[in-house]
Amino acid sequence: MDYKALNERLLHGGDYNPDQWLDRPDILEKDIELMKQAHINCVSLGIFSWAALEPEEGVYKLDWMKNIIDNLYENGIYTILATPSGARPVWMAEKHPEVLRVGRDLVRNHMGGRHNHCYTSPYYRAKVWKINTLLAQEFGNHPGVILWHISNEYSGECYCPLCQDRFRDYLKEKYGTLDNLNHKWWTAFWSHTYTSWEQIEPPHSRGEGGVHGLTLDWKRFVTDCTVEFCAWEKAAVRAAGSQLPVTTNFLDFYVDLNCHKFKDVVDIISWDSYPRWHGPAGNEPPALLAAFRHDMMRSIKKQPFLLMESVTDAVNWHDVDKLKRPGMHMLSSLQAVAHGSNSVQYFQIRKSRGCAEKFHGAVIGHDGTSNTRTFREVSQLGQRMEGLQELCTSNVPAKVAIIYDFENHWAIDGAQALFNAGWAKNYHGTVMNHYAAFWRMGIPVDVVDMTADFSQYKLVIAPMLYMYRENIVEKLKSFTENGGTLVGTYWSGRVDEYDLCFESFAPYGMHEVFGLYTEEIDALYPQQFNATVYDGQKYKIMELCELVNTSTAQVIATYEEDFYAGKPVLTENHYGNGTAFYMCARLEQAFLDAFYENLVNGLSLEKAVEMQLPKNVIASMRRGQRSIVFLQNYNEQEMAFSLPEPMEDMETGDICRDITMPPYDVRILYKK
Ligand code: GLA
Ligand code: ZN
Repeated sequence: MDYKALNERLLHGGDYNPDQWLDRPDILEKDIELMKQAHINCVSLGIFSWAALEPEEGVYKLDWMKNIIDNLYENGIYTILATPSGARPVWMAEKHPEVLRVGRDLVRNHMGGRHNHCYTSPYYRAKVWKINTLLAQEFGNHPGVILWHISNEYSGECYCPLCQDRFRDYLKEKYGTLDNLNHKWWTAFWSHTYTSWEQIEPPHSRGEGGVHGLTLDWKRFVTDCTVEFCAWEKAAVRAAGSQLPVTTNFLDFYVDLNCHKFKDVVDIISWDSYPRWHGPAGNEPPALLAAFRHDMMRSIKKQPFLLMESVTDAVNWHDVDKLKRPGMHMLSSLQAVAHGSNSVQYFQIRKSRGCAEKFHGAVIGHDGTSNTRTFREVSQLGQRMEGLQELCTSNVPAKVAIIYDFENHWAIDGAQALFNAGWAKNYHGTVMNHYAAFWRMGIPVDVVDMTADFSQYKLVIAPMLYMYRENIVEKLKSFTENGGTLVGTYWSGRVDEYDLCFESFAPYGMHEVFGLYTEEIDALYPQQFNATVYDGQKYKIMELCELVNTSTAQVIATYEEDFYAGKPVLTENHYGNGTAFYMCARLEQAFLDAFYENLVNGLSLEKAVEMQLPKNVIASMRRGQRSIVFLQNYNEQEMAFSLPEPMEDMETGDICRDITMPPYDVRILYKK
């Protein structure tokens, strides 16, 4: 496979939709000129081009695309070529309505939107195979094409009869017999025992919602169908002789697809990131969320990823579409690079004139000029990225892993327990709180799921490990036994992968590792708090409080209030050559910051810079031939501080110790 074009440069560019302007050669010419001015070296082409590629059934027109790809290449701009399956042409929906999805209400959609098609429809699959084949034959070995962009933001589900049949086949294969399925889904409850496979329907708004095993299996099935469809699309381009690497771009904060399952299908991970900068709570929350997701993307394959979409100034779909303040474009883009992205790509190069995204940010606006703040900031970034090519072959060196598992997320959300009013059990938010402590300290973290191999880490954090899968108990046990440090929390080890409760005190299978077991769990109202004292400081406890009984664990902190005052809140246990901590309750961020700082010092984990940086100045690190530190100032104010030792500025060669960072500045330094 040829990664050369990808390994030699950081990519800068974005989604390009010339098929909206085929009657305007003047615009197409201008686009190239402006892209060059903006230091753009790569576009994603053809994402929603099906109607232009096949205007009538069986009539294919690829010439326009060839002209564009040739022209781009002659001008030094590479193409990431999309397969057009993200949206189907109108004629297809009219002639073959079975390609359209059936919704959760069991009603078939009409033509409209995108990703409104059934992955099971034989006709749709055949048409996708055919168009992908033609594209691959025509462009799959073109020197200007460097990567396949398979579809666009796979998402959603279909309840058509074909998909339902396929779901039943999936269940037959998984469970073998109905008896087994009935047992694993615990269907004797409420008299829901199935007596034939045909009786089984996916969970939907007029039907079943109380069989948790069914809900979980449906979500797994939807992911598996989507992954299978992606693999099918890839197989078409491979069968047509193209060996280019393949990616598919994941949708922003979408939790309904388990991204990890694409790991072996795609060669490169990519995703689309649209943080809500400059909100009422400032830039820390969006920066933290973006950092977390970048780290998750990198951790899927433990390789650099691509930021496939981001916005140049403002999107048109946030609650409030705020402009990025001057400098934020540089900062938000280089943040992705700092966390392991080898690209900064946008939606979109040129703003469309009509329809849903006509007011979405773009490199080139309706004015069609380079005379805008947005254009200038994009160009500055592009120019700066040209000096950072050394980064292409570096990665983020993480010794800490935090487990965030999509299937566990689904199971926690699906369980009726603890809180049932709007405010969910907050798995994602909890994992983020643990992650935030490391992000602030400048310690690289991999965000992994339960399939991960933990042997390369020193510290593994497993918040709310409610559902077990993938031999997680054995893996965490041997990790700890072999000298690792493990942090576990309340609401762990409750159910197996079928969502059946363990016949045991929680956390199942881990009593010896943590030196305790849980007897009860209390839920607090939003305005209720408990408290604990740790390291001489008092901290707030909210939401969930587990009441545990210790065996070998040492108690570090206890509850201050309620009938369980004096019972453990934080414990430590030696297991094999390692140590396992258990947090019995949801503790405020300041506690997590203090606890992890102590832990990190004890474990001698490397920080990007060995100092406490000012608030909202973040340091991240990549390592190739040398270690490279990205200092990022998320404050609206200038920040000044002194580094513990002089460092070389990668871009200027200056040796610096006293650092002054204007608002939203990024400095890139060699670490020795
Ligand atoms: C997604 C899509 C793009 C575009 C952008 C707008 O990421 O992939 O086609 O709709 O959102 O932000
Ligand atoms: Zn379907």
